[in-house]
Amino acid sequence: MFKICVFASGRGSNLKAIWQNIAGRSLNIEIYSVVSDKTECGALEFAREKSIKTFSVAHKGKAGFVTYDFLIEEFKRNGINLIVLAGFLKKIPDEFVDAFPDKIINIHPALLPFFGGKGMYGMNVHKAVFESGMKVSGATVHFVDKIYDHGKVIAQKCVDISSASAAGEIANAVLEVEHSLLPFVIEKFASNKIIVKRKRVYIH
Ligand code: GRF
Repeated sequence: MFKICVFASGRGSNLKAIWQNIAGRSLNIEIYSVVSDKTECGALEFAREKSIKTFSVAHKGKAGFVTYDFLIEEFKRNGINLIVLAGFLKKIPDEFVDAFPDKIINIHPALLPFFGGKGMYGMNVHKAVFESGMKVSGATVHFVDKIYDHGKVIAQKCVDISSASAAGEIANAVLEVEHSLLPFVIEKFASNKIIVKRKRVYIH
């Protein structure tokens, strides 16, 4: 069984898409746990509904929250294969990144390396894309390193936004693409089809 953990801060639509792909196609993948920086959010609610183990994490000890050190221990002990950030808004500490080399991925709602970095999340991204006048946007799945939205690109999918009349339209079109791209990439990891060769990542 290929074990993944999903980190999310918000409504959890990507988590749902991942879950549906696994359940709908009986894949040999288990969502071992869902982690949030909140104690209540859509992603946690969904996880509880599906009896998936949940954790709330904080950088320093805080009642009701575990620490990143605790999660490192927990994930190592349970043989977690992949950590998926799906709308997780806090920066992952360096020691956590070091503990899971090439095992943490993130989905970003734009075509990196454009429209990424600190502060570029949620509608900020789509507004910046809209203002830029770009005719395409899309979603990027990339490895997580110690710099925001900077790790190697694994997969991207474009959307035509040439007729978009508001940033919200771009957000909806990109979200739809995210819901197929992220489950696709996870499946490729689970079947060992992701090959890293220096700066490029190949999907076989
Ligand atoms: C997605 O657009 C994701 O790319 C971004 O945050 C959003 C999360 O949405 N990082 P959801 O919580 O999965 O619905």
